[in-house]
Amino acid sequence: MSDTRTNPTGGSGDGDTSVLANLDSTEMKGMYWYLALLACIGGFLFGYDTSVIGSVLGFIPYHLNSFWTGYLVAGASLGAAVGALGAGPLTDRFGRKSLLMADAAIYAAGALLSAFTVNAAMLIASRTLIGLAVGADSAIATAYIAEFAPKGRRGQLSIIQQWMITVGILISYLIALAVFAIAPGSAKSADWRIILGIGAVPAIIAVLLRARMPESPRWLIQQGRFADTSEALAKLGVEVSEEEVRRTAGRIEQVEQDQRQERKRLWTPGVKRALTVVCLFFVFQQITGINVPFYYGPTLLGGLFKNPGDSAVHAAMAGLVAAAILGAVNVVATYFGFRWIDKFGRRPLALWGWAGMAVFMLVASAGVAWLTGTPKVVVVMVGFSIFIASFAIGVGGTGWLLQGEVFPTAVRGRAAATGAGVNWIANFALIEAFPAMQKAIGLPWVMVVLSGLSLLAIVTISRVLPETKNLSVEEVVAVFDEQAEKSPLQSSNAG
Ligand code: BGC
Repeated sequence: MSDTRTNPTGGSGDGDTSVLANLDSTEMKGMYWYLALLACIGGFLFGYDTSVIGSVLGFIPYHLNSFWTGYLVAGASLGAAVGALGAGPLTDRFGRKSLLMADAAIYAAGALLSAFTVNAAMLIASRTLIGLAVGADSAIATAYIAEFAPKGRRGQLSIIQQWMITVGILISYLIALAVFAIAPGSAKSADWRIILGIGAVPAIIAVLLRARMPESPRWLIQQGRFADTSEALAKLGVEVSEEEVRRTAGRIEQVEQDQRQERKRLWTPGVKRALTVVCLFFVFQQITGINVPFYYGPTLLGGLFKNPGDSAVHAAMAGLVAAAILGAVNVVATYFGFRWIDKFGRRPLALWGWAGMAVFMLVASAGVAWLTGTPKVVVVMVGFSIFIASFAIGVGGTGWLLQGEVFPTAVRGRAAATGAGVNWIANFALIEAFPAMQKAIGLPWVMVVLSGLSLLAIVTISRVLPETKNLSVEEVVAVFDEQAEKSPLQSSNAG
């Protein structure tokens, strides 16, 4: 940190107490965990709804050609890209809370419509709705958290999003397993509807609880709504008068004006730089192959787990068992990301994460290429498990955290949403490209390519990603502004 940098959140020694500094340095309270959890219910549904379709696809009784079958799986990602991009301007205009409530309502509608669907067109429409909600929610959740979190705990609070995603993925496999186990004869009638429809339960709870959450204090200040800001801060346990809020707003304005000319203030070179870094991070988060074991795992691994002569339902259940094991590894490993993100920082976690992914994707690839029988199952499962754990600790949550924390409040919604949109487009691209690549060069070589991409991620991200742990969100913005003044290819300082 440069000590000449102006710090709009306070602590400048001029005796003026900034309300955001109060928020940044306040003790962790139960309320913060609760709000982060509430912001991340959408993360749970993101995980649930993106992976659940793979479990039921074989049992949907409509005649769908390969385009529409593909759309049911990958269309959610494409819809999510649209939802994310659309959410940006809306949340900067209408606030974080209104958008989070609207997303939860769309999630609920999508899940209910899927459950009671009467034909293929209605199912496709409901999945599209869910895709929009996944995207919009993923665009805003960590931005909302970054706007109230104390700076030393922002990483942990934001990693809850990743954690909820992983729990959603795991629960989707477990619910599908339970429903198929209870009523294997109804796989093509009631089961798939129940499995898709259950997503409505957390969504409805989210609508009700999110209605009572405070609006983001940083967004309110930015809108000039000072009385509402002091009310929101009171809900967050920080008691300040409207006048104090007004003074802080004046200081932020002053600093921003000092830094840039008025007209260029919003999209400074620093903001553009931060956006480039987030987009690069997200592209590598996706193209290094995390969703290969998740989306294709049940099919790839099901064959290794099923017994000869299994019925379609039992074969699907064998794939789900393999996927659930990987899903559980994902949940447990994310805990370490949560523990370490504010301690070791974003950079080391991300770079070591990709290193682990590069090595263990190769291990899994060797298993697929050279082994058979039980040794193959063991090596592939161990390889995929450590690959997933490395992603979960360093790469998954870190991406969503950076997306929430690196932009200034005035453009946070739009910038974070653009990052999320890029994530979903990269997600879609890999899902679409994977089968064709597999056909062209075979699975083991595809895995070697993915491992190479993890190495490329290390080389690229280590050059551009600064450390942002323990800085206030306003200070993070200043770090990127400083960087933008240097050469774009200059190495980032690690701390
Ligand atoms: C990624 C998803 C992925 C999930 C796995 C998220 O961070 O954005 O694409 O499925 O992690 O845990």
